[in-house]
Amino acid sequence: MHLAIIMDGNGRWAKKRGLKRIEGHKKGAEVVKEITEYCANNHEIDTLTLYAFSTENWKRPKMEIDFLMKLLDNWLKKELDTYIKNDVKFETIGDISKFSNKLKKRIAYTKEVTKNNKKLTQVLALNYGSRDEITRAVKKMIEKNEEITPENIQKNLDIGRDVDLLIRTSGEIRVSNFLLWQIAYAEMFFTPILWPDFTSEELEKILTEFKKRERRFGGI
Ligand code: IPE
Ligand code: IPE
Ligand code: MG
Repeated sequence: MHLAIIMDGNGRWAKKRGLKRIEGHKKGAEVVKEITEYCANNHEIDTLTLYAFSTENWKRPKMEIDFLMKLLDNWLKKELDTYIKNDVKFETIGDISKFSNKLKKRIAYTKEVTKNNKKLTQVLALNYGSRDEITRAVKKMIEKNEEITPENIQKNLDIGRDVDLLIRTSGEIRVSNFLLWQIAYAEMFFTPILWPDFTSEELEKILTEFKKRERRFGGI
């Protein structure tokens, strides 16, 4: 199954503790590790897509953006071992062309080293926005002179795989431009827990609830 998570609430987590927002992002990165390891060892989940930076997040102060880019670079360097140990393949969606050369190299290197890993594919959504993704897909189709069909649109998206389960932390009940095409029939869960406080136990509870839901896909 494909699990997608909108990791939200880092800033509020820090604020509640009288800390700077960036401290929330640091703690949030640790949770990414825990959840990735959990998913790698859960046989039902084969793809984990995490919303890390949206096309709208460029509206934030430069200092916060710079910190997030640096955090990502350090994280990929530090956690390469985690990807290898847990047999996790690393992929990205979104338009990373704007990122620094250093970060782009780090991303390409991590993908290359982990490309044959099998237990889990972890997809980081980086400078990702669903509207941007769909627009780029349509442009590609026009360039290739492809027929406009739902199947062809899906094939040209950054990720073609439908989402089975979408989780958003932090209590906001919205999708914020995340995987709009792919969540057409996803089951959705919204938890008030802030991302830095999210745990694999919490994920397990949601997975148990998910299994109880009857997915009809328009049938009866
Ligand atoms: C999510 O946490 C992480 C990113 C968007 C990078 P936020 O930074 O949005 O935290 P809140 O929503 O302000 O608490
Ligand atoms: C969504 O969170 C983006 C990520 C988690 C990366 P935001 O915090 O940016 O979304 P809004 O502004 O609350 O909708
Ligand atoms: Mg937020």
